Amino acid sequence: MVQIAPSILSADFAALGEAVAAAERGGADLIHVDVMDGHFVPNITIGPPVVRSLKRVARVPLDVHLMIEEPDRYLKAFAEAGAAMISVHVEVLPHLHRTVHAIKALGAKAGVVLNPATPAGSLDAIAGDVDYVLVMSVNPGFGGQTFIPRSETKVREVRRVLDLAGNEAATIEIDGGIDIQTAPRVVAAGARILVAGAAIFHSPDPERATRELKAVASGAVQTASR
Ligand code: DX5
Ligand code: ZN
Repeated sequence: MVQIAPSILSADFAALGEAVAAAERGGADLIHVDVMDGHFVPNITIGPPVVRSLKRVARVPLDVHLMIEEPDRYLKAFAEAGAAMISVHVEVLPHLHRTVHAIKALGAKAGVVLNPATPAGSLDAIAGDVDYVLVMSVNPGFGGQTFIPRSETKVREVRRVLDLAGNEAATIEIDGGIDIQTAPRVVAAGARILVAGAAIFHSPDPERATRELKAVASGAVQTASR
């Protein structure tokens, strides 16, 4: 199964409830929420109060991607606001093991994120502990960027690291430049949660765009090895 996680970063922030509803009608499995602090990435987006409001209207789980320098300070706030999944960047965390287990202790699924220039091998010592790995297929900070082709290889490498750690249950999520062209390639590589922002919310019909992306991704999983 492939899950589609529409990223509301590309939606109209004055109408997030409608954006979520349209994505859900199209078959969205999760709603991806991009949190940026203006330090780790150049952009600034949203915080726990918006997650709390989204939680009131969303029927599917909220997948919160923290692109912030000191995520440990905010884990509890995001979990209490309603995040079902919380991912943190390996690039900012000297105590990643502690952070991953702190997320789990708060009752959320714990993910770690790799920037395009961060090698899959940086996961070696934490691969057995994570619920999922988020592979960035663009440099984080903005929606609507172009997919970096090397990310396909990165997904394969991450799958290998997870399997070697005995963590076959861990899922690979991919984020950045995913559309109906790139989706089959990343699914073939092993990605099973696809984030998509511009491809859904910059389209004239987000419901239909979600449905089409899900159909293309689901078709590709049947031909993929796993
Ligand atoms: C980028 C964010 C992404 C972004 C993806 O920093 O992490 O989630 O919304 O947007 P698209 O799908 O437009 O590349
Ligand atoms: Zn994201």
